[in-house]
Amino acid sequence: MTLVLYSVLAFFGTVIGYHLFRRIFTHLENQQTAKEHGCKPAIRLPENPFLLGADVVLENLEAARNKTFLQLLRGRHEKYGNTFTSYTFGRITINTCDPQVIKDVLALKFDDFDMGKLRRKSAGPLLGKGIFTVDNQLWEHSRALIRPAFAKQQLVDLSTFQNHVDHLIELLPKDGSIVDLQSLFFRMVLDSNTEFLLGESVNLLSSESSTMSQDFHQALDYAQQGTILRLRMGNIMFAHKDQKFTKACQMVSDFTEQYVRKAVDLHKSQRGEKAGGSADPSLMEAGGEKYVFLNELAKETQNQVILRDQIVNILLAARDTTAGLLSFTFFILARRPDVWSKLREEVLSVDDEELNYEKSKA
Ligand code: HEM
Repeated sequence: MTLVLYSVLAFFGTVIGYHLFRRIFTHLENQQTAKEHGCKPAIRLPENPFLLGADVVLENLEAARNKTFLQLLRGRHEKYGNTFTSYTFGRITINTCDPQVIKDVLALKFDDFDMGKLRRKSAGPLLGKGIFTVDNQLWEHSRALIRPAFAKQQLVDLSTFQNHVDHLIELLPKDGSIVDLQSLFFRMVLDSNTEFLLGESVNLLSSESSTMSQDFHQALDYAQQGTILRLRMGNIMFAHKDQKFTKACQMVSDFTEQYVRKAVDLHKSQRGEKAGGSADPSLMEAGGEKYVFLNELAKETQNQVILRDQIVNILLAARDTTAGLLSFTFFILARRPDVWSKLREEVLSVDDEELNYEKSKA
C-alpha cells in the first residue's frame, strides 16, 4: 500500500516538476529573446484572477454567438494597442493586428514560429495533417507537394470563374431591393473553388445543386465553426463533445474522398497509357484537358489520406478569405462613389474583351 502511495506521489511529483521546469525554462528563454530584440511586454487583457480567464473565453463565445466578435476584437485593440496578451486556463495568447508582426510571423521570420499544438488539436478532426496543421519537415513536404499545382499559368485561366460569376449576377434583384451579397459570395466562391480544385462544381448558386452538395456545404460550415470554437476553448478543449461536429468532419472527408479516388484512378490510367498499357477511356474523358488542381496533386502523390487532407485544407484556405475580401470590397464600393466610378470606367474600357490575368494587372 505504502509502495503504491509512494509511486503515485513520485509520478505526480515528476509531472508537476517537469511542467514547472518547462515553464521556468520557457520564461527565461523568452526573457533572453525579448532582451536581444528589444521587445517590451505587451499589455495584458484584464481578467478576473479567480476565473483563470473563463470570463474572457465566455465574452469571446458570447460575441461569436451574436456575430460581434470582430467588433469585440477591434474594441480591445483600440483600448490595449496593436498587440496585447490574454491568459486563459493557463495558456498565453498573443493577439496582434500589427502589420509588421504579422509579416514577421508569416514571412520574414517564419522559421521562428510554429503552428503549435493548439491549432493541430483544434483543427485536426477537420484538417487532418494538411499544410495548416503541420510544422517543419511535414510542412516543407506539404509546400513542395502543392507548389507545382499552383504554377502561375494555371491562374491565368479565368474561364472557370465566368460561369459562377454569371450565376451570381442572375441572382441579384433587378428592382434595387436589398440583397445579402456576403452569403451569395460564400456560395459562389465554393462553386468556383470546387470546380477548380476538384474538377466538379457543387453549383450552390444554381437550381441544379444536389442535396449532397448542399449537405457538404452545411457540413463544411459546421465543422469550421466547431474548429474555431475548439480553438477558443484552448486548454479546456477536452470539454468539446459534439456528435454533430464529428459527423460534419466525417461528411467533409467522405465527400472529398470520392474525388480523391477519381483523381488517383485517372493518374494511374494516364500512367498506364504512357507506359503503353491500356487506359480507362471513361476516366480519360472525365479528366479531359481541363485544369484540375487535385489531378495535378495526384501526379505528386497517390496517398489518398494525404491528398484528402491537403485538398480540405486548401478548400478552407480559399473559401472565407476570398468571400470575405469580395464582401469587404463591395461594402467599401457601396460607400465610396469615387472608387466605384473609377472602377466602372476601367471595366467599361475593357468592354467585351475576354479578361485575363495580364489585363487585370494593367
Ligand atoms: C483574399 C484571399 C486570401 C487571403 C486574405 C489569404 C490569406 C492567407 C493567410 C493569412 C495565410 C496564413 C495562414 C496561417 O497559416 O495562419 C494563408 C495561407 C495559405 N493560403 Fe491563403 N489567402 C487567400 C486566398 C487563398 C486561396 C484562393 C488559396 C488557394 C486556392 C489559398 C491557399 C493558401 C494556402 C495553401 C496557405 C498555406 C501556405 C503555407 O503555409 O505555406 N489562399 N492565406
